[in-house]
Amino acid sequence: MKILPNVKWYESAVFYELYTRSFRDGNGDGFGDFAGVLEKLNYLSKLGIDAIWFPPFYASPLRDGGYDISDYRAVDARYGTIDEFEEIVAQAHALGMHVMMDLVLNHTSEKHAWFEASRRNPKGPYGDYYVWADDNKGYAGTRIIFSQTEPSNWTYDETRGQYYWHRFYKEQPDLNFDCPAVHDEVLAIADFWAEKGVDGFRLDAIPFLYEREGTNNESLPQTHAFLVKLRKHLDTHYTDVPLLAEATTPIAENLKYFGTADAPECNMCFNFPLMTEFYAALKTKDARPFVRTAQAVFGNLPPGAVWSNFLRNHDFLTLELLTPEDAEKMEQWYAPSEGVRNGGIARRLAPLLDFDERALRALTALLLALPGSPCLYYGDEILMKDDPSLSDRDSVRLPLPWDEADRAVADPDSFWNWLSSTLHARREAPALVTGDFEILPIDTDKPEILRFRRTAQNGGAAAIFKINFKSLEFGWEKVHL
Ligand code: GLC
Repeated sequence: MKILPNVKWYESAVFYELYTRSFRDGNGDGFGDFAGVLEKLNYLSKLGIDAIWFPPFYASPLRDGGYDISDYRAVDARYGTIDEFEEIVAQAHALGMHVMMDLVLNHTSEKHAWFEASRRNPKGPYGDYYVWADDNKGYAGTRIIFSQTEPSNWTYDETRGQYYWHRFYKEQPDLNFDCPAVHDEVLAIADFWAEKGVDGFRLDAIPFLYEREGTNNESLPQTHAFLVKLRKHLDTHYTDVPLLAEATTPIAENLKYFGTADAPECNMCFNFPLMTEFYAALKTKDARPFVRTAQAVFGNLPPGAVWSNFLRNHDFLTLELLTPEDAEKMEQWYAPSEGVRNGGIARRLAPLLDFDERALRALTALLLALPGSPCLYYGDEILMKDDPSLSDRDSVRLPLPWDEADRAVADPDSFWNWLSSTLHARREAPALVTGDFEILPIDTDKPEILRFRRTAQNGGAAAIFKINFKSLEFGWEKVHL
């Protein structure tokens, strides 16, 4: 892959979210695993992937797909071993791919030894590792994220005789970031995996680290101060190990996760504000709202900051950032029969777009042409189906059907092969990928047409990307300066 001088690997990379449990079952026990990943690294390389993001594979009771960790230094035995993970990192590197993994810092599993110790011995060394209170009255008004199952963010623990705070399932007690030992623990966990060769970390649920009475307990200044500390720690010990924030927050709040030149925080943030605009533009055939959001997200970026643009992931397609009216429209367009769960839609990319390959190609091409590092979701390269009759988010986490993947790879006209050639072509034009971005004015008679120019920073090349949300035509046009 061509990487320009002064451009960090993650500024031009295409990421692939690989949900290990569902990707490839290597040992035939019906559960995806690292042996399966090892078998399929060539598949990813051939597709044109630059970096793999692994959601949590730590030891876990799997109450929340692995986001409930019982041991941060162990791989869940169902996936395999740490040695196999190290082998994945080594082989991915040999194929020119980077590896990013989830760092879940906000909470652990209730089965983590720290929580067991904390609930048994309030005065012991782990007594303050979690957020305990004598009653459940504190932080009133904080929203409940998993509102379909959790009646409260507080749960009573019989053993300790107190309530503990949790922003997600009750089996996921929140760590107490006011406890200095918790900071030491989580920095040591980042070191543990960085030393195994991991190239970057996705920071799960990062707005929720701190609680303060009288606030909404999201994106507090203390959380940003911790991110400055974590970033500094990594920059001191390693080279170019980026942090990617999962912060489903409005644009102004989201931009703060990049930090400032003097106090940098995350290198990357998921582009939640822009994600829903792709889907809306497809239905309204009006590019103007997309443009307004794109200008706001791309227009104010600090130097070196990178958006991770995406269409789908392992969670619901979240409508959290929309006004109630816009959320209602999205629901009518995309989930008229099954409705919205926990604020989102339990569908995958291809079914959302009615398996319309022209729409899939157009939105994917737009995703790949925007500034930032796009992130694809496993299975979307083969138009994978979902199953909204399943509970929680299992609808979008089905096992990848490898017979279909093999057929797609072999068919020169498949979406897979179109995507692969687009990804390989993107790699050959790194100057445009990281170049300047300028949205061209929209013609009032043709609000369905979006055009933007990418110009290489060295002034060598420029090209205009055009997409018509009505006809679904799209493409690049070279321009001479
Ligand atoms: C993030 C993850 C989601 C998980 C939650 C709690 O939003 O993406 O899957 O349930 O955090 O860890």
